[in-house]
Order: sequence, then structure tokens, then C-alpha cells
Amino acid sequence: MTALTLSTAAASGLRADAIVIGVAKGTRSKSGDLVVAPGAEAVDKAYDGRLAAVLETLGASGAEGEVTKLPAPAGFKAPLVIAVGLGAEPEKDETYDAEALRRAAGVAARTLTGTKKAAFALPLTDAADAGAVAEGVLLGAYSFDVYKQNGRQAKNDAKAKNGKAPLAEAVLLGGKPRDAAYKGALARATAVGEELNRARDLINTPPNDLTPQSFAAIAQTAAKEHGIRVQVLDEKALTKGGYGGILGVGGGSAAAPRLVKLSYTSSKAKKHLAFVGKGITYDSGGISLKPAGHNETMKCDMSGAAAVFAAVVAAARLGLEVNVTGWLALAENMPSGSAVRPGDVLRMYSGKTVEVLNTDAEGRLVLGDALWAASEEKPDAIIDVATLTGAMMLALGSRTFGVMANDDAFRAAVHEAAEEVGEPAWPMPLPEHLRKGMDSQVADIANMGERMGGGLVAGLFLREFVGEDIPWAHLDIAGPAFNEGGPFGYTPKGGTGTAVRTLVRVAELAAAGDLG
Ligand code: BES
Ligand code: ZN
Ligand code: ZN
Repeated sequence: MTALTLSTAAASGLRADAIVIGVAKGTRSKSGDLVVAPGAEAVDKAYDGRLAAVLETLGASGAEGEVTKLPAPAGFKAPLVIAVGLGAEPEKDETYDAEALRRAAGVAARTLTGTKKAAFALPLTDAADAGAVAEGVLLGAYSFDVYKQNGRQAKNDAKAKNGKAPLAEAVLLGGKPRDAAYKGALARATAVGEELNRARDLINTPPNDLTPQSFAAIAQTAAKEHGIRVQVLDEKALTKGGYGGILGVGGGSAAAPRLVKLSYTSSKAKKHLAFVGKGITYDSGGISLKPAGHNETMKCDMSGAAAVFAAVVAAARLGLEVNVTGWLALAENMPSGSAVRPGDVLRMYSGKTVEVLNTDAEGRLVLGDALWAASEEKPDAIIDVATLTGAMMLALGSRTFGVMANDDAFRAAVHEAAEEVGEPAWPMPLPEHLRKGMDSQVADIANMGERMGGGLVAGLFLREFVGEDIPWAHLDIAGPAFNEGGPFGYTPKGGTGTAVRTLVRVAELAAAGDLG
């Protein structure tokens, strides 16, 4: 992982492979002209104040995601200047948006793959900005190549000729290295960035290696390392406990299901949050088999559980003054002679019976059990995270997750937390009239209802398994969990780790007593 430091060194004297600066589309005097963002003054001066003109000649416009490279001016120890676009210059008296900084830092870190050390001279106005740049660097530098012959092993070998190692060291200029707020912001970014990257690793790990058992084992190891209590229910314990949803979904696989409970507690906690994650390590659809073209990325169907796991560990690393229980509902959805069939009725952990009409609607079954288990502890609030429906992806696209809830104020609070950390999210309703589509002839409820509004139908199903009077929010991350397109900002191809930062932010708000 990229090492981060704050420094007051002059950009010119730093021995590094490159100096990163920010450029933006001017909005003030000459609107549309390129402007060099604060932080790059020394570079601009060494170019006799002509840096903006030089960059414009090279085609730079300041647009978000844009990268322009130019040789460093004479007198600089670093050979290269990398100018990254920040988008529109802020209005007078305003500062650059944290998310613009995070994305620009991410783009630069990605561009710097294969280099050892870079200085970041981006416009920092406070500690939060330094935290945003740090987060962008850590997330943007991420790569997943353990399965490549010249992958991570080779990288650790100094002799191995592999030019693809992530940026090793980032020095942030323009901050206050001795200031507690800056140090705290860097520590927070490091904990969140590292855990989020670990969630990405889990999502990207192929399903022949990441099974419910191996995921549970990884969670156990990490939990012990960070003083988190962990309980793993294996198939025997699940049978004994009556977890019919998890057992039903996992029944078709040679790899048995697990329910993992992670309990982080703080002696100063006043609130208790429960996070519940869908952890389908592979979703073939089961007997209602997915067609080719719809199953290649289904290793990502445990992204919710990965996000919950990462958020609980991050909360522990940050020592947040709140109790957080994470529930990972882990199963592999496969067709076989022991698989659940369309037409089967399952008795859920809550006692409710469910007629399985489509075995591909498996997420709601494992979550139903985990939500009820979470509810038994009567937490102050529950948030579940799930790659639940293709319908949510159709509705909101591939970058935005849907937020549903049984409580308007709680939904708004979670949505606001998501916006604050730079995770695009949007509120979605739970229309009552869609409930009757799930009425079953033989059981209390069916696992499928109307096709139209399928994401909301799934949300209504989950609501049935939330304990009375507990504020609950449901994040359907089917769209943004896995990036099938090219990398952008600090988001790589593959597993994105979406929702981790929202969960951490909600935990911080609860710790501060700011969550209703
Ligand atoms: N894991 C899928 C949802 C999904 C789709 C996630 C695309 C990420 C990308 C889920 O288990 C599923 O198959 N849902 C069905 C439900 C339907 C059968 C009611 C769906 O959305 O089609
Ligand atoms: Zn499915
Ligand atoms: Zn699924």
C-alpha cells in the first residue's frame, strides 16, 4: 500500500519521480481559460509564471480526469510535473470540493503506477482536504494482480522487472505535518483506504478461492488482529439455529454457507449500529440459472458483505465511540441435486415461511435471516448493503446506489452521509402497493413479486425481516459495486468497495451523537 507523509519541503528540493499539481477551468476573470490551482506556485514561478500558458499549449483544459505531463523546470530535483484536472475553478471565496481533490489525486496515483515516489502539490485549505487527497491517492493507486505471474510476489522482489507496482510513496505538500487535525485526517484516510482496498481484494478474488469458508476465515483473522469479537455459524450451527434462508441458498453448493458476526465495542459507546452484508461468493442463479453473459461478474455478489467487513474493521482501527455489529451472510448460489428449487418453501430464521419462486432472487433470502438475527439485539439502527437487483442498476446506472428505508429521516441521514464522502447515492421509495405481488398461495410470502420496480419489491421483502421500531436502511449497490468500464477518478476496474465510506461515516455520526 502507498506510504503517505505530510511535508513542508519546497517542491523544487524534493527527490521524487514527479510533482503533481492541479489545474482547473477558470470561472472568474477570463472564464474558460486554464488556471493553475493553489499549491503549484513554486512550479509556476520556475516557469516564469507561464505554466498555465504552457499547459494550454499542451492541450490542457482543466477538465476532471485529465492528465498533462511536462518536464519539470530547471532547478527541480524531480524530473516530471503531472498536472491533473480539477474541473471548474471554485467561485470566489470558495475552495475546491473534497471530492474533486480526491478524484484528481486518484487519477494522478493511477498515472504514477510503476513509479516510486511522488509529491502532491494540490490545493489544500484544511486537514479535511489533506484527508481527501490521501484517500484519493490510496484508492487510486490500488491494483489487483495477485493472480498474474508477475504479480504481487514479483513486485516485492527488487530484482523483478515489473514496472506496474503501485506508487510506493506519496508526499503531501501544503499541509501542516505537526498539526493534530492533519495527522488525524491522514490516519483516518489510511485506515479507511486500506480497509476499502481490502474489500476490493475480496471482491476481485475469484470465486474458486473466495468461498463462504475462506471469507469467514479471513474475517476471523482480521477481527482478532483488531480486537473485534467474531462468531462464525457453520452449516451445523445454522441448521440448529433454523437459518432456513441461508441454508436454502447455500444448499446447492459444495462450499457450505456461513453467517459471520463481527462485534466491535467501545467502552464509550452510546449507540449500537448493525451492518448487514449480502455475501454471495458466486451467484450462478441456482436452478433458475443465469444465462451466459449475466454470470461472468457474479463473483461481485459478496460486495455488500465485503463493505460491511471493511467498515467494521475501519471503525475498530479508528476507535470510534460506537458499538458496531457486522453480519456477513455468506453462501454460494449453485444449481445441484441439493439446491433449493423454484416451488420450495423455506422456513426463515424469523419463523416466516418463503415460497421460492426464483432461486436467482437469493440475496433477499440470506439477508432475511441476517436482518432478523441483527434485529434480535435491538440495535439503534440497521443498514444492509447488497448487490440485490439488476432492476436497481437499470434505474440508477452503474455509479449510483439506491437508498431505501422504513424511516424517512434515517434514509435522508444515510443519503447525506453518502454524499458527504463522495459516494453517489439516491433515495428510492418502498411503495406499499408492491407488497401484494409477493403474496404466496402456500407460504407467508414469495421471494418474487412484480417485475416492474424489482429493486423496490426486493426492498419491501427485506423490510419484513426487520424488527419492529428499528430504523433500517437498505443500500442496493448492484450498479456501483463492480466497475466493468475503464477506471475513473480513484475507482479502478473491478471491485470498487462502494458503501464502505458511507458506513464508516454513519458510524462516525452515531459516535458523535449526530445520527438522529
Ligand atoms: N446478484 C443479482 C443482482 C445483480 C445483477 C447484481 C447485476 C449485480 C449486477 C441478484 O441475486 C439477482 O439475480 N436478482 C434478480 C432478482 C429477480 C430474479 C427477482 C434480478 O435482479 O434479476
Ligand atoms: Zn441472484
Ligand atoms: Zn445475487
